Amino acid sequence: MPHADSALVPPNLERREFWAHVHTQLESLLSGQRHWVTNLANASSLIYSSLAAYKPHFGDGENAVNWCGFYVETSFFPKARVSPKSPDQDNNASLDQRLLLGPFCGKPACQFINVTPGKSRGVCADAYLQRKTMLVPDVEAYPGHIACDGETKSEIVCPLLLKQNGESIAVGVLDLDCLALNGFSLDDMVGLERVANLVVNSCDW
Ligand code: SME
Repeated sequence: MPHADSALVPPNLERREFWAHVHTQLESLLSGQRHWVTNLANASSLIYSSLAAYKPHFGDGENAVNWCGFYVETSFFPKARVSPKSPDQDNNASLDQRLLLGPFCGKPACQFINVTPGKSRGVCADAYLQRKTMLVPDVEAYPGHIACDGETKSEIVCPLLLKQNGESIAVGVLDLDCLALNGFSLDDMVGLERVANLVVNSCDW
């Protein structure tokens, strides 16, 4: 099967069936490669394209998912070379813990998320620090929400949890944004958590 065909979605699927379908397609797409950049790039594309093809619930109209992507903990990136003139560089910046923008589909987004306990804010930081999925029906009502796109109305963020030596380590988050209020349901949460688990375990970190 050509790789692009993995984003084809059969008609009339219930949400649980939709996420099971995405999971199966991802298992096949991510096999044979364990680099996180490559696998997260294809995962964001497959999830985003599949949601766009899932017409009854998302599609490309007013309910569309307008962003799908990953933020990954800084230490997994090659050592950053920060320009001395970077506006982002202040005296305390080097002490901050951050997630950096990883592979995504959609419009340009915030380059980093501060996850320093006590200094963090936003849905991604909360999902990462609390190690739990944040289902946000109305982003305007979420304290500290960071607006990358003013058109986004609802959001869901899953932590990427890696099991290592009996411990659960958060390596980043998977974030979906939607143009509609209440875009995501509990079925989406269960399906996306399973997908996030597959993605994180398909990579070497
Ligand atoms: N809304 C997120 C920021 C990331 S963008 O939505 C892509 C937050 O509050 O953390």
